[in-house]
Amino acid sequence: MKKRNFAILTSGGDCSSMNMVLSTFVKRCLQENIQPYFVYDGYKGLYDGDIKKATSKDVMHIWNLPGTKIKSARFPEFKEESIRKKAIQNLKKFDIDYLFVCGGNGSYIGAERLSKMGVKVIALPGTIDNDIASSDFTIGFDSALNSIKDDIYKIRTTMESHRFIAFVEIMGRNCLDLTLDAGLCTEADYIITNANILKKEEILKLIKNIRKTNKESIVILVSELLYGIDGNPTLNEISEFVNKNIKEKIRINVLGYTQRASIPTAFDLKLSSELTNYAIDLALKNVHGISVGNQGFKYKSTPIEKANKMVNKNKKNEVIAFNKKNKI
Ligand code: F6P
Repeated sequence: MKKRNFAILTSGGDCSSMNMVLSTFVKRCLQENIQPYFVYDGYKGLYDGDIKKATSKDVMHIWNLPGTKIKSARFPEFKEESIRKKAIQNLKKFDIDYLFVCGGNGSYIGAERLSKMGVKVIALPGTIDNDIASSDFTIGFDSALNSIKDDIYKIRTTMESHRFIAFVEIMGRNCLDLTLDAGLCTEADYIITNANILKKEEILKLIKNIRKTNKESIVILVSELLYGIDGNPTLNEISEFVNKNIKEKIRINVLGYTQRASIPTAFDLKLSSELTNYAIDLALKNVHGISVGNQGFKYKSTPIEKANKMVNKNKKNEVIAFNKKNKI
């Protein structure tokens, strides 16, 4: 029987545990007598033909390393059909019959388009943002959350020593999950997300109210991409405004890329190895055009087109409940 060839790429923002996906992929393919291939630099590498056979040596001891061994890229050109056609030619050149894509929602759209052009694709949710609604959790979310939790603890400690106020800006694109869950696991004083953007006057009032509770320090979590765009003031401008009115100094902490590169948590490692094995189980049954994900303790597949149409659970009420619980 002809040997089968499976390829994998990682795409979009990297996240902790993508390397576990790669390691599981290569080991399982070799067990099944399938030749594994790596596509370097995401969809860009697929277009450029940067595709190489993967060996067990390539993945030796990488499972616990953050980042992605095969690199990642954003490649907006992939929305062009002509670009995808060339990418498909490359898959044919290497006789690859299955493509596994690990990435976030942009990568999922690329996967759907390839699937509609006849490529056998399986998508794995890999992003810190937790914005793939067909899976309860995305690979990398829990590691990012733990990293944020540790950073907030450090920030709280020093704010407390100085009775300072901190804004902590949290990545997560347009999904508020990281900010909400970070609030829930760190006793933050308030969270501001796209479900409850506050004006600078409201933030001033908020700080005055929190001070009335005799708190020594104040930690306010703010989702990224809210302030400094769409006519909203920057966090710096808000700090100056507060300082002018009540002489309080705010320290701004942008966690940024630290969130994407922590040592993966056990939860993420387990999720990524089990989802990758599940994805290969499905490929062996000739299932394709799907995304894999978890629902509670179960793994499930969703047609990729449906997965891309699913809207993330609106968590506005949870944000409001969090802020209310803190009686502010
Ligand atoms: O999608 C992951 C993510 O880290 C988002 O949280 C963030 O908005 C974005 O990527 C940053 O993108 P880039 O890596 O292109 O700067």
